[in-house]
This record gives sequence, C-alpha cells and structure tokens, in this order.
Amino acid sequence: MIQLIVFSLITLFTWRVWRFTVSPMLNPSHPKEFPSWVPCHAAAFFCNSNGLLASARKYFNTNEPFALTVLGMTFYVVTQAKHSAEVYKSTDTLSFEDFVQGLMRTNGNDLDVIKVMYSPLSIDKAGFPNPQGDSLGVLAQKMHIHQLHPGQNLLVLQKRVQTWIHGHLSLRVLHDTCTYASPKGLASIELPLYQWCSEYFVRLGQQVYFGEILDKIDPGLPSAFLEFDELIWKMLYQYPSFLSHDMSKPRSRIIASLNRYFRIPRSQREDGAAWLINTMEDEAKSLGIDDDNLAVLVFHLYFAINTNTRKTVFWVLTYLVHNPSLMRAFREETGPAFDGHNLVDPFYIQDPVNCPQVDAIWHETLRLSGWSASVRLINQDTVIGGKLMRKGNRVLVPHRLLHFDESIFGQNIYAFHPERWQKENLTRSPSWRPFGGGKTMCSGRFLARFSVTTFVATLLRRFDIEKVGNSPFPQADQGRPVLGIMSIKEGHDFNVKLTPREAVR
Ligand code: HEM
Repeated sequence: MIQLIVFSLITLFTWRVWRFTVSPMLNPSHPKEFPSWVPCHAAAFFCNSNGLLASARKYFNTNEPFALTVLGMTFYVVTQAKHSAEVYKSTDTLSFEDFVQGLMRTNGNDLDVIKVMYSPLSIDKAGFPNPQGDSLGVLAQKMHIHQLHPGQNLLVLQKRVQTWIHGHLSLRVLHDTCTYASPKGLASIELPLYQWCSEYFVRLGQQVYFGEILDKIDPGLPSAFLEFDELIWKMLYQYPSFLSHDMSKPRSRIIASLNRYFRIPRSQREDGAAWLINTMEDEAKSLGIDDDNLAVLVFHLYFAINTNTRKTVFWVLTYLVHNPSLMRAFREETGPAFDGHNLVDPFYIQDPVNCPQVDAIWHETLRLSGWSASVRLINQDTVIGGKLMRKGNRVLVPHRLLHFDESIFGQNIYAFHPERWQKENLTRSPSWRPFGGGKTMCSGRFLARFSVTTFVATLLRRFDIEKVGNSPFPQADQGRPVLGIMSIKEGHDFNVKLTPREAVR
C-alpha cells in the first residue's frame, strides 16, 4: 500500500515538473500553462471560472496569453486588449461558428440541418442578397445587422418598444398584470425588482419580435424562459440530461411554442413579426428546413433578444435606488424628452450630449455587471500576442477581466463610479468589450440601450421608486457562466415600492 502511494506521488511530481517546468522551457513560443496538482482545473472552473482566470493572471503577473486545461480541453486565455484585437481580426484561422454549431446541436438541431446551414449558398439566390456566397449561418449575422443597426428596420422596433412601455407603465396595468406584487391600497404597489424587470422585459422582447400571437399561443412562455435562462449554465457546461431536467423542460416548452407559432398560417402573424423573423423563416424554408428545426433556430434568437436586457435594467435600477442623487440626475436629465407623462422624444435620451449622466450610468452598469467572454476554435496554428496557439484548441477573451484594468478605467475599480466615463474616448478603448467584438459583436446593442433607458426614464417620470426594508445590496452570481450580463444570487431579489407622481408639463 505504502509503495503504491509513494509510486503515485513520484508519478504526480514527475508529471508536474515535466508539464509545467521542463516543457515550457523547451517550447518558449507556446503560452505558459497555469499549473495544477491535479491533471486539470475542472473544479475551480465550474465553481467560479472568472475567479480562476483572475488567479491565473495574477500567478503569471504578466499580460502575455497563458494556457489553461479543463477536462482535456486547452484554452489560451488572452487578457490584453491589444491581443484581443488580434483575436477578432484572425477570422480566417479562428472560428466562432464552432461555438454556434455546438449550441445548435445541444438544443436539438439535426446534424444534416447544421450541415445545410453552414454550406455556402449561391451568390444569386433569391431572398436576402448574398454577394459573398455565404452560408445561411453566416448570412444570419448580416440579417441581424440589417434589422438591428441604426436605420429604418431598427426604427420600427424602437417605435414598438416605446408604444409598449407607454401602455404598460401605469399603476392600473401593474396591479392587473403583476400577480406576484403586493398592492398597497390603490395608491402604490410593491414589487420584487429582479422578478418584475425580468418578466416585463421578456414580454416586451417577444412582443416586439413576434407580435401578440406568441402570448396567445402560450401565456406562460416568459416564465418558462426565465426558468431556463437562470439555469443556462447547465446548457453551457453540457450537463448530462439526468442532471438537467430543470433546464431542459422549460427549453422544450419554448421550442414547442415557437413550433406552434410557425404552424399558424403566415398571413395571421407576419404583420406582428419583425422583418428578421419573416426573413429567417423564408430563408430556412427555401433550404428545406422543417418547422421543428426552424423552431430551434429561432429559439436562439428568442434567447439573444431576452437574456441580457432584463438583467441590465435590473442592475441600472438597483444602482439608482441605492444612489438617490444619481436617480435625481437621471430623472432631471431625461425630463426634456417628456410632455407630462408622455415620452415625446425618445432619441433625446440616447444622445450623450443631452444626457451625459444617463450615458455614464449605462456604461458603468455594463462594466460592473458584464460577464461574457469570446470563445473561438483554432482551425490553423495562429500566433496571438507573439505566442503560438495550436490548431484544435480554443482561444478565450474574458471581457470581465479587461473591464477591471485600473490603468484604463481608473481607481476604485470594483465600485460604481459613473464619473470615470468622463475620461475622453473611454468607450472607444479596446479594453471596453461588453458586447464582444469583431464580426460577431452584439448587433442588439442599440436596441438594448434604447429599451433600457426608455423604460427607466418613463418609470422615473411616472413614479417615485424606493427600496423597501433593509436588505443588503444584491450580490451578482459571478460563479456561473452566462452569455452577457450576470444574474443575482438566489434569495437576493429585493422589493421596491412604486408610487405614482403627478404629471408635470
Ligand atoms: C445589454 C444587453 C446585451 C448585452 C450585454 C449583449 C451582449 C452580447 C454579447 C457579449 C454577444 C457575443 C459577442 C461575441 O462573442 O463576440 C452578443 C451577441 C449577440 N447579441 Fe447581444 N447583448 C445584449 C442585448 C441584445 C439584444 C437586445 C439583442 C437583440 C435584439 C441581441 C442580439 C445579439 C445577437 C443576434 C448576437 C449574435 C451576433 C452574431 O453572432 O452575429 N443582444 N450579445
């Protein structure tokens, strides 16, 4: 027995010296690997991946790319903004599609459909123009941009957002729709902020993209989405099915409801739908993709629309409720956009010249609440930051680490200080990546900002909002991965009281 233990210890010691001391000396052009005493960092990665990345960077005490192995998969971690720009530029050798195709497989797309989606199409095909002969998978990114970048198509969605918020922010509607609220007579209402923002924004998102019909097909869809979205880490970590029924059941319900949506005759739903939904349907059907697979494709879109905005509005309001002077500044700055309780000029609020504090609060909230990372598969050996990254492994750019660089964002880096955004051109810094970067940078960023700031401005115009009770500042759930903005830890939601204000002219 003792011999076995001694043998195991010697083997472990030899393995460690070889892997983390001798091998790096023999291969100085390779990124150094973060050492461990067990063959990989799985436990630390699954408990708190950002924490593990921060420890690794501190260990090397340099901004050079380093390597990390988790469950046999090697990630090269890029923590310097300059190197992340190299990652985003290396589109020939680093692939984002691998990640998307992985999600498609996990969520139920057939393998032959994935193949069809990523096969180049003719340049003169009918429908959405395709001058580069892209596949539908690649073309879909261009279609998102066509819908969501500033222009006529975005204006249609912004108008819908404004109209919906106008009709859904009164005490009467809140009393009627928020079954979980505690009415305080007729004069005010108490709501759990995270739950309310989440439900409100998922309803808004699905209305803007699909029209009312989806709500009629399945009124419980927003709740099912929230159940799924809070457990999305199980999907990202590809948990075995017997451990992830709680995530996969609501996911199946969303996909089934989208399937029913596409089975309704087109003439009954196309006017309520965004251009993108109708075009995606046309493009998919022209490739012979059936309703089952179309529903899975559009499920990813439903997810992208809804996962981050709901959490961003919660964090903005949380910071405002805990900083009354900032709340006053937000309200005063956005005042000229209103006539009484009506928002008459929503674009006034989007202009940082009119509303510098709103702009700074938006950026500072994203800085502190953002979690995402860009992941790329290496298709061919590639040099990033002077280090050779080998084919078959993955490159990871953890945006959150970039956002806590004091040399760029200033002191008190973990505190909410919108003033730091007074520094000129900070939003142009390559260290600023709340929406990712390169070709796959979030196309929904303009709509997200419009929706969140329109909602907060209208809320503050119509209501006084205050925190109820003495609960501490809610903690973000940093340990679990999400694709954008962090959730809160379980049990950290808190109540706010809304009391209508007199209309001012
Ligand atoms: C504050 C809210 C949001 C945040 C923080 C956010 C963040 C992100 C991030 C980090 C990515 C990945 C980029 C990459 O890997 O390079 C992404 C992609 C994407 N987001 Fe957002 N997002 C938000 C809101 C939205 C909204 C409202 C929509 C749609 C209406 C949207 C649509 C998309 C799409 C379509 C992609 C994929 C882009 C592509 O592959 O071409 N996002 N988002």
